Amino acid sequence: MFYRPEDGHGLPHDPLNALVAPRPIGWVSTVSESGHRNLAPFALFNIVAYRPPHVMFAPTVMEDGGYKDSLTNVKETGEFVINIAVWALRDKVWLSSTPAPSEIDEFDVTGLTPVPSELVKPPRVAESPAHLECRMTEIVQLPHPMEGRFNHIVIGAVVGVHIDDQFLKDGLVDQEKLQTMARLGYRDYTRVSEVHTKPFPSWPPQE
Ligand SMILES: Cc1cc2nc3c(=O)[nH]c(=O)nc-3n(C[C@H](O)[C@H](O)[C@H](O)COP(=O)(O)O)c2cc1C
Repeated sequence: MFYRPEDGHGLPHDPLNALVAPRPIGWVSTVSESGHRNLAPFALFNIVAYRPPHVMFAPTVMEDGGYKDSLTNVKETGEFVINIAVWALRDKVWLSSTPAPSEIDEFDVTGLTPVPSELVKPPRVAESPAHLECRMTEIVQLPHPMEGRFNHIVIGAVVGVHIDDQFLKDGLVDQEKLQTMARLGYRDYTRVSEVHTKPFPSWPPQE
């Protein structure tokens, strides 16, 4: 099949997310200017530069045209934390996406434990095995069909990294133990369960 997104796909559900998959999940904690904590997962998330390290997450416009608290809070304070989302925490990750009013703290809703960060105000999820403390560097606006509304990409510099030492093996992150979770299409999720190691090719390539 071929379709132009503006014409519709004619399928029961949008196939696009199922093609760009798996997507890692940035589990974003923020605080508002007035001090309200917030926690929400974003599968439109990735690392976008290594030196210096930068990450992005993309809050989309809500059905009612509103903006997500994570975006509002980063705009207000310029700081966020990416908590690494792992399979063992998948139910909490999912629950933290509840569209709660901005004064509701998803740490309370999920029963997760907030612990202070080293360099930024938003707390970390203690149960998460790794965290990236971030300072926002840029917010990019993308078009949205609603008049005057925009989807956004939040880009931030990673200024601090926490790793629970039990997930390091011989100096490397033990991916099979960490079991990072990821989003597929529809309502589907997956986890890292198998790792293949292969160095980059040299030139000319050798078998
Ligand atoms: C696994 C998962 C991934 C999600 N990814 C995104 C995303 O990339 N962008 C987005 O706008 N919403 C995403 N959502 C929905 C938000 O988490 C949800 O709208 C949440 O209520 C936003 O919270 P906030 O208003 O507290 O920021 C995702 C939900 C789940 C369960």
